[in-house]
Amino acid sequence: MQIAFPQTLAEPAHAHVVLVAPAEMTAALSGPAAAIEAAGNGQLLRALKAARFEGEAASLVEILAPAGHTATRLLVIGTGAPNKADAAAFEKIGAAIAARLLISGETHVSIDMTGVAAAIPLAEAAARLAHGAELRSWRFDKYRTTMKDKQKPTLAAIDVLGAAGAEAYYSSLAAIASGVARTRDLVSEPANILYPESFVERAQDLTSLGIELTVLDEEEMRTLGMGALLGVSQGSARPARMLAMRWNGLGANPGKPVVLVGKGVTFDTGGISLKPPGGMEDMKWDMGGAGAVTGAMHALAARKAAAHVVGVVGLVENMPDGLAQRPGDVVTSMDGQTIEVINTDAEGRLVLCDALCWVQKTWEPEVIIDLATLTGAIIISLGHEYGGMFSNDEGLAKQLKMAGERTGDKLWRMPLGAAYDKQIDSAIADIKNVGGREGGSITAAQFLQRFIKPGVKWAHLDIAGMVWAAKPGTLHDKGATGYGVRLLDTFIAENYEAK
Ligand code: BES
Ligand code: MN
Ligand code: ZN
Repeated sequence: MQIAFPQTLAEPAHAHVVLVAPAEMTAALSGPAAAIEAAGNGQLLRALKAARFEGEAASLVEILAPAGHTATRLLVIGTGAPNKADAAAFEKIGAAIAARLLISGETHVSIDMTGVAAAIPLAEAAARLAHGAELRSWRFDKYRTTMKDKQKPTLAAIDVLGAAGAEAYYSSLAAIASGVARTRDLVSEPANILYPESFVERAQDLTSLGIELTVLDEEEMRTLGMGALLGVSQGSARPARMLAMRWNGLGANPGKPVVLVGKGVTFDTGGISLKPPGGMEDMKWDMGGAGAVTGAMHALAARKAAAHVVGVVGLVENMPDGLAQRPGDVVTSMDGQTIEVINTDAEGRLVLCDALCWVQKTWEPEVIIDLATLTGAIIISLGHEYGGMFSNDEGLAKQLKMAGERTGDKLWRMPLGAAYDKQIDSAIADIKNVGGREGGSITAAQFLQRFIKPGVKWAHLDIAGMVWAAKPGTLHDKGATGYGVRLLDTFIAENYEAK
């Protein structure tokens, strides 16, 4: 999408948008809408009244071939009450415009923001509007070869008018949108295309943004003692990888990094504890945590964040074959803990525990955040509205919750505790990889916590319900949501960025 912020545009011969506040519908139209109303001899207000338009945020009325105007069609969109017209509201407005026009046949839209009343500076409102439009326009059509012209996206250019200085706000938002797009692309790819080695291959271009990459192959992981991760991988013909992405935006002596860790199971059949076939295709996005971490690293580097952040993703495929690990097997993690594998489908925690050991040994971080499509149980708990958050630190939990509220990548805190931890004591080893059906997301988090060293602030985000959407949302179509990128980017910006 080509996005620009010109001051004015004469006689649009394409789609055109004006914004209207609720008060204008009870008093009189003002600004660009008033001019169109006058030129069209009252047609505009008649149409708005007929559509019962009241100016609510992102409510939309479309008028084809408006009288007295050169536009191909005119969209009137509500701003909502000016004191509530914040960043999120303008993102929603931009997204609504993009969703309406994306496959409309229009290639170009201009949006006149002259005189719009908002709770944030007009330049920022314009940038947020453009950002919402950009996020909502992402699609994954690469494997569709027989699409009719009418189904194909047409909208390619957006001009936002009347908001001087918007570019300054927009450049970092464009970086974030490209990170979100990267995550959505990764999550959407099928598992015959995206597997541990090809995931690493696709990350190579991050070096052009200034990200430093480190890759561990299976031999190196064996030498390091990552028996838990390798146990998951041993039933797959695809070799596992560990990928570290380091962004240092602080120059010399950057200090300890914030570490992000992602579950990257590129396909989860369940292994010998095989999943039922219905819906198993969804398990191509069992690398959603790794996707979010990779997209967040992209966003941070692309906007040159003044922070030191390392993203690590554990990449494996969980398959059943003659070499696959069996229920009852005992494996040893990198820090020497023995694990009884009761259920080979509880593989995410086995991958993450070795990644957690490795990052603590390599970077000695004070803060670790892991993201994982870890349990079906979190979807039973929270549905698709909130990611589940587990943390050993009040301050970190508050920071993450706040970043979630600001970005719409919402989080709900879940409990941890000794009684839950007891559920994963094993009779034969130090720990077992499942703790029974009850509190399944919590015992999974307890498992991970056993690998966190004293003094390390840690949060685990179970995002199984958030990575993929069955229906369109505010800023995404159905399919990959890109959940986590904006969350992590804002978390870093608000708490770890030198200003
Ligand atoms: N990848 C799944 C969790 C999942 C389920 C993600 C549905 C997204 C949608 C995970 O590896 C898994 O299989 N978890 C098991 C754990 C159980 C065996 C203790 C589950 O949730 O059923
Ligand atoms: Mn599984
Ligand atoms: Zn899984």
